[in-house]
Amino acid sequence: MASTRALALTRALARPRLAARARASERARARAWSIATHGPWNTKPLMMTEELYAYVLGKTRESEALRALREETSALRGARMQVAPEQGALLGLLVELVDARRVVEIGTYTGYSSICMASAMRAGGVVYACDKSEESFAVARRYWDEAGVRDRVIEKNGDAKASVVELIEEHGENSFDFGFIDADKRAYMEYYEALLKLVRPGGLIVVDNVLWYGKVADQAIDDKQTVAIREFNAFVASDARVSYSMVPIGDGLSVCRKR
Ligand SMILES: C[S@@+](CC[C@H](N)C(=O)[O-])C[C@H]1O[C@@H](n2cnc3c(N)ncnc32)[C@H](O)[C@@H]1O
Repeated sequence: MASTRALALTRALARPRLAARARASERARARAWSIATHGPWNTKPLMMTEELYAYVLGKTRESEALRALREETSALRGARMQVAPEQGALLGLLVELVDARRVVEIGTYTGYSSICMASAMRAGGVVYACDKSEESFAVARRYWDEAGVRDRVIEKNGDAKASVVELIEEHGENSFDFGFIDADKRAYMEYYEALLKLVRPGGLIVVDNVLWYGKVADQAIDDKQTVAIREFNAFVASDARVSYSMVPIGDGLSVCRKR
């Protein structure tokens, strides 16, 4: 009788421990499944809904000049080439973080990103704005005036590759603090190599459209621009000359720091 009671008592005491063990092994099973399915990190990306994007825009600083430029540009051909406001804010912040005095922009269009960068510089800083479209420069000039940064921008009108070669000849290698690549996608590799010469160690090279409207991840798409960006991204991802992060903001910005 006594031993039956002792057995019952032992079982009663063991029950919570068994339950805890069962719960722990259930958690371990769930975690193993999650790792097998998704990887051990949080790989479920946050989906950018219309509501969430409106929220982001609502928390993005944008000057009156930039807002007006965005509105005017939205009616122009190629309007979607312009960087998004939250990308512009990040560009400005990065320029400020490296205290850039000399910036080169490859692909200026109507001037949105150049204004973001020029506004973030100290007096005396210069953005060399490279583009081959006089029509776009005509719009940009008005807004450089409106934003009060006209004296910080030097226009380089013509093929951007030639413009960067000129800048290297004029100022020397390692003489710039920051480069922004946002022109012809098929020439990204050439722009990148040229900027690796022009930008100093510790300086940044930032590249737009690295997600290319999502096409980079769709292997069924093999047009020349998509393939070029895909190859460029693969190259940068393993380029030991830079530290780098691919930031999924707007159409994707790769931020590279020259080592
Ligand atoms: C994506 S847009 C630049 C957008 C700009 N960064 C902005 O935020 O508004 C690309 C620009 O690159 C210019 N472009 C394309 N190929 C070029 C080249 N080979 N040389 C110079 N400019 C070029 C186009 O004229 C166009 O204005």
